[in-house]
Order: sequence, then structure tokens, then C-alpha cells
Amino acid sequence: METTHRVVVGDARELSQVADESVELVVTSPPYPMIEMWDELFVELDPAIEDALESGDGRTAFEAMHAQLDRVWDELERVLVDGGIACINVGDATRSVDDSFRVYPNHARVLDAFESRGFDPLPDILWRKPANSAAKFMGSGMIPPNAYVTLEHEYVLIFRKGGDSRSFEPGADRRYEAAYFWEERNRWFSDVWTEVRGELQALDGGHEDLRERSAAYPLEIPYRLCCMYSAYGDTVLDPFWGTGTTSLAAICAGRNSIGYELEPAFREVFADRVADAPALSRSIGRRRLERHREFVADRREGGKEPSYDAVHYETPVVTKMEREIRFREVTGVEELEDGDGHRAEHDPLSLE
Ligand SMILES: C[S@@+](CC[C@H](N)C(=O)[O-])C[C@H]1O[C@@H](n2cnc3c(N)ncnc32)[C@H](O)[C@@H]1O
Repeated sequence: METTHRVVVGDARELSQVADESVELVVTSPPYPMIEMWDELFVELDPAIEDALESGDGRTAFEAMHAQLDRVWDELERVLVDGGIACINVGDATRSVDDSFRVYPNHARVLDAFESRGFDPLPDILWRKPANSAAKFMGSGMIPPNAYVTLEHEYVLIFRKGGDSRSFEPGADRRYEAAYFWEERNRWFSDVWTEVRGELQALDGGHEDLRERSAAYPLEIPYRLCCMYSAYGDTVLDPFWGTGTTSLAAICAGRNSIGYELEPAFREVFADRVADAPALSRSIGRRRLERHREFVADRREGGKEPSYDAVHYETPVVTKMEREIRFREVTGVEELEDGDGHRAEHDPLSLE
């Protein structure tokens, strides 16, 4: 199997190189309105935002920033297939404007934007960022009532385009082979994720500095979302591509990808990251199977024997639907002739 991974250096407010109804899944994290690191970018997109911030009108600035994101959400409505899913990672912002401190609820504003475009909101995920300092608390220390709760979570808001789920032909291999294990389903489809900075991050080489500077999300987030909401061979779009974490996840998960990014320098970063995709995809598959076998051993210790055998790996599984599960490994990555991205070759991953 072959997948392609394209990136367009350009403005996602017009996804002119993405055809109507050509994308099955969107996984993205926009610049967060009212978080200072993104002020300059929003001011470039709409200079009136600078006036609002300088005159201390936080509410107007917040709305004007979201108006820029709204134009991208309009495009998603056009390019997604019916039943396609959009997963938007966003955090709220806390900020003092004109000496007045408050929260700017980005997640609520994005939810409104999608609903008003006819998307159906689905249950969302809250993921917890680890607390790293006791000095993080804001407000007046130990005396009530003027201290503020610290935000240590972000949302993955999930929307479906159109009222109906996607349909596949009966027995579609690319769907059944993309199954996840029962215990993965229980972890991934729970509404609070606490361990997303875990394993895949270590496999992806750390890159802590880069993650801070580019506001990249942990690889585990787009990887899980690709596995949860798309099948092998689907196309995943990230209109706010950054360092291409979504594309790296898509490659490892055997999906195609396309990204839009204003900052051209991130392409070089991605070229380095994608070179690791063969080793990364193998490690991910191996690790998923190891974890599954640990789960089976625990379950047996508790006196429960899984009922079925997987077809492609030496392991029992809990449900019939997991039997065809088959990981894909990336066997080679090369640049596309037009220089706009990469082509990846995939084989089924064989594991002892
Ligand atoms: C939060 S970062 C995304 C980080 C990415 N998820 C990663 O893991 O590297 C948002 C990115 O969107 C880009 N961006 C913002 N507005 C854009 C627009 N209108 N079109 C294309 N890219 C945009 C920014 O340059 C930034 O790299």
C-alpha cells in the first residue's frame, strides 16, 4: 500500500488545493485566541485585532481572532465527506486585559462555530497536561476569595459532518484491519486522557524544545484520533499543520495526509521527522501488541479467558471485531517529484 503526505505553504482560510468532499478526517490544533504567543499571527491576519488589544477590549479581540478561525471552519465544511469527522484540539485562555483577569472560553466559541455550520457535536475528550510548577497558581495566594483555578487541560472537540455516519462495503478489509484492541477502545474512547505524553513521545525522540516553540501536540493525540475515526487509506487534513505531527501520525497509521501551514520553515522540521517514520511505525505496532499481551495476561490472572484468536498475530482477543487487526509498517519514504510532500510505502507488519 502507498500513501501520500502533502503540505501546502499557504493560508488555510482558503483551502484552494483541497477538492470538495475529499477528506475523511480533520485533526488539528489552531492557534489559540487570546494566548499571547499567537497575538502577532492574529494581528497579521486582521490588523484591527491590535487596536482591540491596545484599547483593552478583550472581548472584541477574542471575537475577531475567532472570526479568522471561522473562515477555516467554513472550508472544512466544504472539503469533508458526509459523515466525515473533525477533531479540534483547543485550550481556553486566561488573560488580563486592561488589568481585568478572566478566562476566554475558546472551546465554547469553537463548538458554537461548528454547530452553526451544521456539524453534529459528538462527545468530546479532555486531556490533561502535567502540572509542572507549584508557582503556577494565579491570584492572591492563600487568602480567599481572589485566587483563580489553573487550567491544566485542553479539549479535543469532535464533530461529524451531516447526520449520518460513513458507510463501507460489507467486510471492507481496510476497515477491519484498522481495528483497535478492546482495551485500547476502553482507554481511547474514555472522555479524560491522562497519559498522552507517554510512550509515543519517547519513540518520537522527545523534541521537547521544538514542541514548546511550535506549540506542537504530543504525537499520541493525532495517532489515536486517526485510529479512532478513520480507516486505512483515508485522508486526514490538518489546516494548522505546524511541524506536521498530524502527518507523522497519519503515516504511522497508514492514512494519507494533507496540511496547510503559513510558516515555510516547518517543512524542514518535518523532513527530519518523517525520516524516522519506518522505525517509528514498527515500534508503535510492536508496543501496541506488547501492551495487548500484558492485558491478556492480567485478564487471565483474573480468571477471564479472551474468546477469540487474532488472525494475523499470535494472541487472543476479546471480541470478534478485533480478529482481523493488522498493523502497517512504513517500509520506505521518498519525496514527491513536485517537492510538495512525501510518498510512503506500507506493508503489513509481521510480529512474532
Ligand atoms: C498550534 S500550531 C499547530 C502545531 C501542530 N499541531 C504541531 O504539532 O506542530 C498552529 C499552526 O497554525 C499555523 N497557522 C495559523 N494560522 C494559519 C492559517 N490561516 N493558515 C495556515 N496555517 C496557519 C501557525 O503558523 C502554526 O504553525
